[in-house]
Amino acid sequence: KLIYTLPFCTIQQAASAGTGEPLQGHINPMLQLANLLYSKGFNITILHTNFNAPKISNFPHFTFISILDNERFSNLSILDFAQSFIFKQDGGDDLRDQLELLLASGKDEPVSCLITDALWHFTQSVADSLNLPRLVVRTTSLYTTIVYASIPLLDDRGYFKLDDTHLEEQVGEFPLLKVKDILKMGIKSKKDPYAELIGDMVKQTKASSGIIWNSFKELEETELERVPHDFPAPRFLIPFPKYFTASSSSLLDQDRTFFPWLDQQPPKSVVYVSFGSISQVEEKELLEIAHGLVYSKQAFLWVVRPGFVNGSTWLESLPNGFPGERGRVVKWAPQQEVLAHEAIGAFWTHSGWNSTLESVCEGVAMICSPLLGDQPLNARYMSDVSRVGVCLENGFQREEISSVIRRVMVDEEGKEIRERMRVLKQKLDVSLMKGGSSNESMESLIHFISSFQV
Ligand code: UDX
Repeated sequence: KLIYTLPFCTIQQAASAGTGEPLQGHINPMLQLANLLYSKGFNITILHTNFNAPKISNFPHFTFISILDNERFSNLSILDFAQSFIFKQDGGDDLRDQLELLLASGKDEPVSCLITDALWHFTQSVADSLNLPRLVVRTTSLYTTIVYASIPLLDDRGYFKLDDTHLEEQVGEFPLLKVKDILKMGIKSKKDPYAELIGDMVKQTKASSGIIWNSFKELEETELERVPHDFPAPRFLIPFPKYFTASSSSLLDQDRTFFPWLDQQPPKSVVYVSFGSISQVEEKELLEIAHGLVYSKQAFLWVVRPGFVNGSTWLESLPNGFPGERGRVVKWAPQQEVLAHEAIGAFWTHSGWNSTLESVCEGVAMICSPLLGDQPLNARYMSDVSRVGVCLENGFQREEISSVIRRVMVDEEGKEIRERMRVLKQKLDVSLMKGGSSNESMESLIHFISSFQV
C-alpha cells in the first residue's frame, strides 16, 4: 500500500516569523508518523515543497516528490500567507496533478489515503475530487483543537477586545484559561487572516476521514470526551516521540559537542532551555534570560537558534564572559536526547506542543514561557491540569526568572512537580504496552488505513 504524506515544510515557516525558519513543530510529527507507519508495513511517498525540503538522505526508505516551487513565497509574512490564494491555488493544483499521476501509475501498489497536516486545509477538496480518503495530523493538543474551534464564539463574547485590566480573569467558556492566555494566541478577531486560516483548518479537519493527534489518552482524558461533539471523525492518539525521535527530520545541524560536559553534571542538576524553531525575542529579553540563568546559580544548556534574537546574528549582545563555566550555549541540539539525559532537571520551554510532549515522554519537569499561538494553552494545561510544570509567563525579567528556576530546581515544589511527572510518564509508558491506550490507538489506525477500499 502507498500512503502519501505531506509535511508542512512550506512557506508557512517563513511566514510565521518572517525569518525563513524551519517550522520543525510541523515537520517533525509528520515525519515521525511516516516512520511509524513505515515500520508497520506501509510504503510512504512524501510530497513536499522545495522550500525547507526535508533531508531526503535521512529517509532512504521513503519516496520523495517535490510539488511546489515555493521559493518565491519565502518572504511572505504570516498575514500575506494566510491571504494568499496563490498558494492555495498553486498548491492545490500541483498536489492534484501529482496525485493523479500517482493514482494512475499505482496499479500494483494502490494508494490508500492522503495524510496531511491539518493546516493544509485545501488538501481536503483535492482528496475529495479524487475520491481519496484524507487523514489529518493535528500537530498540537486536543485541548488546543477544541479552543481553536471556539474562536468565533470567543470573539462574539468579546474576549479578544478586552483590555489589560482583565488579564487575570477566568474565561467562562474555558474555565482553565485566563484572559491573558486567549490574548496571547495572537488573534484580534474571527475575521483576522490568521483566525480565518484556523477556521478553514477546523472546517476541513471536521470533513476529514480521521484525525491523528500527537498525544495520549491519559494526558487529555477529559478533552477526549469533549472532542466527538465538535470533530465526529474517527480519532487516534499516538505519542510519536515514544516511537521515533525527531532527530532525522531536523533541518538545522545539531550540535553534540556539549555532551562530554553534560555527562559530567550531577543527576537532575541542569536546566535545558529552548524556545523552539520559530519564536523570536528582542535583544533586551535575551539579556534578561541570560542574567536570570546566571542569577539562578544553576547549570544550564541553552539553545539560541540563529534568528532567535530579532536584529542580531547570535549572541553578540551578551556580555563578555557569558555563559561562564556553569552554562553552555548552542545553536541547535538533539532535543529529545538531551531531555533523556539524566543530568537534566528541568526544561524551560516556550511550550510548543512537540517540546511539551517530548518533555513528558522523558519525564522532565517544565518551566513554561509561552509566546504565541497554542503555546499559552499548552502551558496552562501543563501547569494547572497535569501540574507537571510552572508558568513563567509575564515577560522575561531576570529576578523572576531566577526565582522560578530555583523553585523548580531547588525547592520542595520542584520535587513534587517531578514526582507528578514521573507518574505521568509511567502512565504513558503503560499506554504503549499491549492493551494500553496508545498501543490500541495505533493498532486501530493501522486497521483503519488498511480498511480503505483501493
Ligand atoms: C510550532 C509552534 O510554535 C508550536 O506551538 C506548535 O505546537 C507546533 O508548531 P515550534 O515553535 O517549533 O513549533 O515548537 P515545538 O512544537 O516545540 O517543536 C520544536 C521541535 O524542534 C521539537 O520537536 C524539538 O525537539 C525540536 N528541536 C528544538 C530540536 O530538534 N533542537 C533544538 O535545539 C530545539
